[in-house]
This record gives sequence, structure tokens and C-alpha cells, in this order.
Amino acid sequence: GCREELGSLHGIPLYKSFIEGWPQVEAFQARHDDLLIATYPKSGTTWLSEILDMIYHDGDVEKCRRDAIFNRVPFLEMKSRGHIPLSSPSAGVELLEKTPSPRLVKTHLPVQLLPASFQEKGCKVIYMARNPKDVVISYYYFYQMAKMHPDPGMLAEFLEAFMNGKVAYGSWYEHVRGWWEKRQEKQLLYLFYEDMKKDPRREVQKILQFLGKEVVEETVARILHHTSFQEMKKNPAANYETMPSSLMDHSLSPFMRKGISGDWKNHFTVAQNERFDRHYQQHMAGSDLCFQMEV
Ligand code: A3P
Repeated sequence: GCREELGSLHGIPLYKSFIEGWPQVEAFQARHDDLLIATYPKSGTTWLSEILDMIYHDGDVEKCRRDAIFNRVPFLEMKSRGHIPLSSPSAGVELLEKTPSPRLVKTHLPVQLLPASFQEKGCKVIYMARNPKDVVISYYYFYQMAKMHPDPGMLAEFLEAFMNGKVAYGSWYEHVRGWWEKRQEKQLLYLFYEDMKKDPRREVQKILQFLGKEVVEETVARILHHTSFQEMKKNPAANYETMPSSLMDHSLSPFMRKGISGDWKNHFTVAQNERFDRHYQQHMAGSDLCFQMEV
């Protein structure tokens, strides 16, 4: 397999190939009408990207398909070492340069590492956060199926690594807090996975308002249908099944795994939960940022 230890980028643990590509990412030239989708991993990135892709295509699934090469939202800091099929560019930046405006861009970067150009051009940003207990469980399964990660070991070990920020993209706490604190300065809409689960229609309306777009009810209904967990799970353009199995092995755990809130309850022991709660309280102290651990 291609499992290897993570490298470090300005103190943030990250895949070595991404670190090799960093100079290009740092110098990335955003355009004023780029929309940035920012998340900590496993927080609903793919879901939010699919919603925005549908909004950008007026809810027309066929148009999304026709645009195949630009269909999947480019991943800014992505850099592969040749595991990706030859037809697709090996770097997110390369793909973005070929993408016509208005572009959607996704990133997992913590706010302090975001290339300066996004701020300079005044780009809009949509951030989506998810409660850390579900994130760590989702991440644990993702570490198992996505072979660019080191072996996660037992859940107990992975929980420690997560709490200590020793996983790809570093500390969840710093990530969600860092972006939260920037929401005044930037044109930033801060969303929560749990809200999207509870009332996707309301959240999609929030997004439309933020983008200054008006769409008819029928389009909203189409977007909601197409981006439901069930539909996305069977959509090869969204479920990562076209990735080579040397990179993502869906037989270990599907990318579209459960798509619910509160699955952590099926995994945490009582002791692990108490320890996690204490750690959470310490690391979220003084913040008005608040998470629902289930819906
Ligand atoms: P689970 O592992 O808990 O199922 P990301 O895209 O940031 O990697 O996040 C992946 C998580 O989002 C997975 O969580 C996945 O199932 C969930 N997800 C993807 N599409 C979804 C949808 N349409 N509705 C709800 N959850 C979704």
C-alpha cells in the first residue's frame, strides 16, 4: 500500500505530497468571484460541495454531468504522486487554473494557512463545522479506507491522536475556532452539519441568500433531492467510488458511510466519552462557538 507517516507544514500534520506542492498553493491566485468551501476533514465537505455545484448549475443534474471535467469541486491543496488516473491533473491548483469562472474551490486548510489571495480578492467563504465526536469517528473509518493515511491503530489510540491534534490538518479545536474568529473580517457564512441534517431546506436558503441568488421552489426541491445521503451514496460523481482502490478501499468502509449525527454513541465507551467531554470543555473555554452532539 501507499501508507506513510504525515509530514508537517508550519506545525500542521499533512500528507507529504501536499507539502511538496505547497509553494504552488501558497502562490495561488484567487479570482474575485471564487467561492471557497472550507471545512475540517469529515465535516460534510462533499455534501456542501454537491449542494453548491447544484446551485451553480441551477439544479440541473444533466448540466453537472456534461461539465464532467469540472464537475467535482477542485481541492485547492491536493497534490498526488501519480496515483490519480492520467486524465486528471495531479494538483488542485492545475485544475483550478483550467476551470472557468465562477469557480468553486474546496480546502481543509486552517485559516492561518489560507493563501493570502483569497482575502485580497475579497472572496466569499462558506465554512461547515461538525461536532467533534462524530468527526473523530468518521475520520477513524476514513483513515482505514483512504490509504494515504498512516495506520490509525485502535480507536483508543486514534482518539488520543485526534485530541492532541496529531492527525491530518491538525487540531479540530484550533480549526473550528480559527475560522469562527475570522467570520467578522471575511465574507464568511459559518454553517453546521447538524443544522444541515435537521433542516436542509433552511440551510440551502441561507446559502442562496448569502450568494445573492434567487431560485424557484422546484429547483430547491431538486437540489435537496439530489444531495440527500441516499442519492449521493449511489452517485459515482459524489461517492468517490471511481478512485483507484489502492487509494480508497470502499470494502473497508464506504466513503458515504452513515451520514448521521450521533454515531459516536455506537463507538465511545463511557470512560472515553467522559475524557473527551473534559478535553472539549478545556479547549472550547472562552468561545461562544457551540456544538450539538446529536440531532
Ligand atoms: P460519516 O462517516 O459519519 O458517515 P467529508 O465530505 O468532509 O469527508 O465528510 C464525510 C462525511 O459526510 C461522512 O460522514 C459522510 O457519510 C457524510 N456525508 C456525505 N454526504 C452526506 C449527505 N448528503 N448527508 C449527510 N451526510 C453526508
